[in-house]
Order: sequence, then C-alpha cells, then structure tokens
Amino acid sequence: MTTTYAVLSEGLEKRFGEVRALRGFDLAVPQGTVCGILGPNGAGKTTAIRLLTTLLRPDAGSARVAGHDLVREASAVRRAISVTGQYATVDGDLTGRQNLRLFARLHRVRGPAERAADLLARFGLTEAADRPASTYSGGMRRRLDLAAGLVRRPRVLFLDEPTTGLDPASRGDIWEAVRELKRDGTTVLLTTQYLEEADQLADDIALMDRGRVAHTGSPHHLKALIGSYAEVVVADADALPKAADVLDRLTGTRPASDHGRRTVGAVTRDATLTLPRLVRELDAAGVPLLDAGLRPPTLDEVFLRLTTDQEVTT
Ligand SMILES: Nc1ncnc2c1ncn2[C@@H]1O[C@H](COP(=O)(O)OP(=O)(O)O)[C@@H](O)[C@H]1O
Ligand SMILES: [Mg+2]
Repeated sequence: MTTTYAVLSEGLEKRFGEVRALRGFDLAVPQGTVCGILGPNGAGKTTAIRLLTTLLRPDAGSARVAGHDLVREASAVRRAISVTGQYATVDGDLTGRQNLRLFARLHRVRGPAERAADLLARFGLTEAADRPASTYSGGMRRRLDLAAGLVRRPRVLFLDEPTTGLDPASRGDIWEAVRELKRDGTTVLLTTQYLEEADQLADDIALMDRGRVAHTGSPHHLKALIGSYAEVVVADADALPKAADVLDRLTGTRPASDHGRRTVGAVTRDATLTLPRLVRELDAAGVPLLDAGLRPPTLDEVFLRLTTDQEVTT
C-alpha cells in the first residue's frame, strides 16, 4: 500500500526583500494525520502555511496539497482546504450565527442554517450564538474561527497557532476539536510554539528553524532524541568545573555553566539517568550541591540542541 500525502512540499522558497523566510521547505504529511509544525518566532511557520494555502506564491519549489499542484491548480487546492489562525476573518459586528451562515452561503453549503447550528453546538457556542462576535472572549472567538473554517468540511485544515494566548480550558477545547477532526479523517496541519501542544496532538512533528524543516519525527522519536535536561546548583562557583565534568560523563553532552547563577546543566539522552544517581555521583566527586534536578527540555533547549549539535541524527 502506498501512502497518500495530503501535503507534499519540495524545496519551497519565499523571500521578503532581504529576508529569506523559507529556504527550501520540505514536508510530507500523510492523509488523515495531524502534523505539528513547531518553531520559534520567525522560523517561517506562518509563511509556510500561507504558501501551502495559496495566500502567497512561492519563489521556487513545488508542492501538492490534497493532490493538486499548489500553483497550477490553486483553485482546486482552495476548494479542498480551510485555513484559520492569526489572520482569520470573523466579523465582530455579526453574531456567531450570522458569521457561520455567511460562510456557509459564500461556500454554497447546502442547509446553511443547519450547518451553522451544528457547528455552534459542537463548539459550545449555542448560548452565545446570537451575540455579536466582538463580545466573545478570546477562547470563544478562536472557537468561532475554527467553526468558520469547518463550514465547508475541508479535506485538509491548516491552523496557524490556534491556541496562542488562550487560557488552558480554551486550549483544551481546541485540542479536542482537532482530535475529533482527525477521527473524521481530516488531515490537520497546525503550527505552534508549544512543544506540549504538538506532543498532545501531532502524529508527526516538523521542527522548523530559519526557514527549513530541521527535523521530523513522531513526538516519541523527537523526545528520545532530545532526552531530558539535568541542571545542578553548586554552593561555590569554584566547584562548577568539577560539576561540569560529572555532568559531561553522565549525560554524554557538553554542559553549559552559568557563573552568576552557579548552575551547570546539560541535555541528556540517557533515559536511565535518575535524580538519585545524579546526586550520588556529584556527591562522590565532592561537589557542594545546593540543588539538582532533571526536567524535560524547554523548546529553546530542543532547538539549541537539534540545530547546533551535528551528532544528533534523525
Ligand atoms: N510580509 C512580510 N514582509 C516582510 N517580512 C516578512 C513578512 N512575513 C514574514 N516575514 C519575515 O519572514 C520570517 C518568517 O516569518 P513567519 O513566517 O511569520 O515566522 P513564524 O510564523 O514562524 O513566526 C521572519 O523573519 C519575518 O519577519
Ligand atoms: Mg507565525
């Protein structure tokens, strides 16, 4: 059986004046899966989404979305997809219901009133349905956005940072909606700055760095690659080199010291490293310890590690 890709992009490039926002963007998203595009601000996530949704034209490269060529069959692509996110356009003067009906009519959906009512119910907006969208909370507004994107039942849905700035409850609602879409067979491509979000939702993660996909893999795969972060606080800055030696040996990666905070830390790929062992080894080496911990790496550390360490291979 051959995999059918909902999105298949090869070498997409986009330049804004001097800025090379995309420098060879490659991505393959199997149909019916959720792909999380992860990356720091400015990595090119939004540009990638805008290209893949035909809102911008690529300078070079090619892509197929829902089986259609992005440039030559742009209108077929547009019919197969929806996009919501940072630039979504629900009208604040209209009520939630009016917005959805308007979208339904624009897209010639049969039974626009029923479709609007279904979506309002599905996103918990029935009670607020007849209030102007401008009175909605951030979370409600975002849910309405998402509902608007689903009026047409797209085959591929693009979400650009759907939960940025939302409270945890609203974030959970969006996550649930994405899971439900996946169950219905919709392919979802979402960008996020949150590692946890990609972890919760994505079958595959594409880590973007400076206009490219630097690494791809399942969350499990990437985490195994990245490991956890070991950090210790010493009582005396003179002990930092000794602590660094111990960390170097235990983690297999070069530790970073901070003299001001008297800390030394390193990413570890050794899944068997435990806190007791870390403390024991430091103690045995005569390091005066104030604190020690093992925690999941932050997104910054993930990127630092994956974009600067050539030893890591996916
Ligand atoms: N319309 C534009 N004009 C000029 N520069 C842009 C424009 N859109 C994006 N950029 C630049 O392209 C790079 C990638 O931006 P973007 O795709 O928005 O990244 P992300 O969504 O990952 O934060 C950034 O350096 C950004 O400043
Ligand atoms: Mg963006």
